[in-house]
Amino acid sequence: MATIKIFDTSLRDGEQSPGFSMTLGQKLRVARALAELRVDIIEAGFPAASPGDFEAVKAVASEVQGPTIAALCRTVPRDIERSAAALEPAAHRRIHTFIATSPIHRQQKLQMSREQVLQSAVAGVSLARTFLDDIEFSAEDGIRTERDYLADVLQAVIEAGATTVNIPDTVGYSTPQEMLELFSWLRETVPGIENVTMSTHCHDDLGLAVANSLAAVEGGARQIECTLNGIGERAGNCALEEVVMALRTRADRYGFETNIDTRRLHNASHLLAAVTGNFVPRNKAVVGENAFAHESGIHQHGVLASRETYEIMKPEDVGVLNSQLILGKHSGKAAVIDRAKDMGFELEAHEIAGIMERFKELADRKKRVFDSDLEAIITGNQAHTAGPWSLQWLSVVSRVSGEEDPTASLTLAHENGDTATQTGEGDGPVDAIVKSLESITGMDITVLSLAMRSISLGEDAQGEASMRAMVDGVQYSGHGLSTDIVAACAEALLEIVNRASRHAERVAERGAEAPAEAKSPRRSNAA
Ligand code: KIV
Ligand code: ZN
Repeated sequence: MATIKIFDTSLRDGEQSPGFSMTLGQKLRVARALAELRVDIIEAGFPAASPGDFEAVKAVASEVQGPTIAALCRTVPRDIERSAAALEPAAHRRIHTFIATSPIHRQQKLQMSREQVLQSAVAGVSLARTFLDDIEFSAEDGIRTERDYLADVLQAVIEAGATTVNIPDTVGYSTPQEMLELFSWLRETVPGIENVTMSTHCHDDLGLAVANSLAAVEGGARQIECTLNGIGERAGNCALEEVVMALRTRADRYGFETNIDTRRLHNASHLLAAVTGNFVPRNKAVVGENAFAHESGIHQHGVLASRETYEIMKPEDVGVLNSQLILGKHSGKAAVIDRAKDMGFELEAHEIAGIMERFKELADRKKRVFDSDLEAIITGNQAHTAGPWSLQWLSVVSRVSGEEDPTASLTLAHENGDTATQTGEGDGPVDAIVKSLESITGMDITVLSLAMRSISLGEDAQGEASMRAMVDGVQYSGHGLSTDIVAACAEALLEIVNRASRHAERVAERGAEAPAEAKSPRRSNAA
């Protein structure tokens, strides 16, 4: 079977969308998980967008082995040079340069003629080839581009040295039939296209990104651009876990394989969720909690008789483990590390102490620690945004009736050695915690959403709080984990405060250096 290349853009297209930004450490953690997943290409960022983005691409290029590391850039010389410089340390590297080709983008956004766009594309690819041999060109909004002109642009960039040509559905407008026809037509029409890789990059505005990517494969695409959990601009991109499992489960129809180690899909997806503070929806295909749960009697009966009655994939093939009960308070470090390894987590030396501390705390409070508890501790620990503030003490009084409002007293320690204690009153306990945090940090915090879920079974189950809040006009997300749900909310809020502090530092560090177009629309939100 021929192989479809999996190009992951979680760290670029995913990270640039509101609510999904990551710190450098978090990007490295996700990049390592992507390498363990064995994606073929990791698009690590957009180096010309800011010094922080440049450093992140460089760090991934230096520290992550295995996949090709790609960097995105416009077709302008400065962008291409920044990409080449950031990619320098990588063993395998790719410059990915793009320009919009559709009439609406040419006229309204770029104010360039067809000829100017074509020349810029060719100049960009030619310059990129002076640095590297592996060059991808994307015709942004390719789907809405006049066919003959798109074919001309692709032919010209192939002649200039592009080795992959990507035809994105930038606005998620296409349909599967249209994708099949367009890719088949391009494959038959563009001279030289048989010598390069055709790639697809679909957005999910109409919920068709996975279906469109599969249709592009049927039309001749041999690279799929996608992201973990389908994160990305607006409604997101094609979800990696879904498209990979569709190709695998329906190999009878598509006849392709990928290099992905599918047993790592579940962990990679949940790590990304924890890092960005966005839960994987319960009913999410492949990696959601309900993906292999059977509730109705008829379904349970069928599955007990034969799993294939209602399951088209095996849970273990995507890394969902069957075993439930694991460890207790007498379990030591070796047992925890071993169990984590069975679950697909290779713990790094520096994270073991933090994980063991959380594990012991939990095992003291809870009789039984489940796989899902351990997973939440590990991913929470890996995702944790190190920030200037830590919670030292918390006391909350909740009231159902009476005149007085709920109160929250808390003490925070700052990394500079200071501590501060404040008591706040609010409409509810979470609001009271917000008021105390506002008094200590001077930030203006508005909670936008709060979701709670139980991590495992029993009265003593851990609760996970996932929160989104606006801090000084910017959106952030945070998550917290505790057997006490109010404490879980406090942890989530603290993570938000820490993200806001780190973001303020990064904004200060990103000077006026970045080009306006690369910076502004992509960076209006954080966290
Ligand atoms: O959606 C898009 O067109 C993109 C390109 C820059 C590849 O993300
Ligand atoms: Zn995109």
